[in-house]
Amino acid sequence: MMNQEKIAKHKAYWEENIARFSGFYDEISQEELKGIGLLAPLYKKFIFPLEKEQMTKRNLFILEYIDKNVSAGMLVADIGCGSGLYTKTLLQKGAKVIATDFAQAALDLTKAKLNEEELNRCQLILQEIGSAPIPKVDLVLCIGVLPYIDNFNIVVKNLMPQTNKLLFNYLKSDNVFNIVRSVFSFLNVRNYSFFNSNFIKKTIEENGFNIVQKLELGTGEMLSTERIKND
Ligand SMILES: C[S@@+](CC[C@H](N)C(=O)[O-])C[C@H]1O[C@@H](n2cnc3c(N)ncnc32)[C@H](O)[C@@H]1O
Repeated sequence: MMNQEKIAKHKAYWEENIARFSGFYDEISQEELKGIGLLAPLYKKFIFPLEKEQMTKRNLFILEYIDKNVSAGMLVADIGCGSGLYTKTLLQKGAKVIATDFAQAALDLTKAKLNEEELNRCQLILQEIGSAPIPKVDLVLCIGVLPYIDNFNIVVKNLMPQTNKLLFNYLKSDNVFNIVRSVFSFLNVRNYSFFNSNFIKKTIEENGFNIVQKLELGTGEMLSTERIKND
């Protein structure tokens, strides 16, 4: 279980910022960065455009992934659904969707994107990822969430046993910018968590999954993983 104080802090951040964050998909994020004083405008001026570039790359990869892996009638979980962009895309592909997030603001934004027919195929659940396993599904998207949890065991316990396919991204602890952000924690403006890539790969494989595709993404990577079939 993650530290409750940290969860509450991240939750409060996302309740306030999820609508602003979704600006990244159109123009640029409008998030309010607190606690870094004079650095906030600098961060927004120089780092947000770089983040925007990565978001565009990330978005294209995910849309292509959905196109290739999701078909009508499948049951898909969108964990940390945020503004609902991918929930909407999954529903448009004809899937049934379980969309979860710990921020009510995210579920409200997601709901507002859906028409009545889509709402009939979508379950919106207010849930912290570490609190319980998700129901059995065909495929899980967990995009942009690992930077806010500090224990990969949550993914191993609550997501992996429930699916055959899992797409997720995380930030690497051995990336030079993340090393700097870890040392000078005031530069870690969103209080990100970082993971060791060898540990992630080993854990994925130890739990019966293969890494099928990988995308280098800024200071992290996105992994498309699948359960190894026992014939
Ligand atoms: C960076 S946004 C990404 C949203 C969406 N997946 C996307 O890619 O557009 C992260 C989302 O994860 C949610 N989130 C972060 N930590 C979470 C946790 N511990 N449990 C559930 N949701 C969480 C936030 O509320 C937010 O909506």
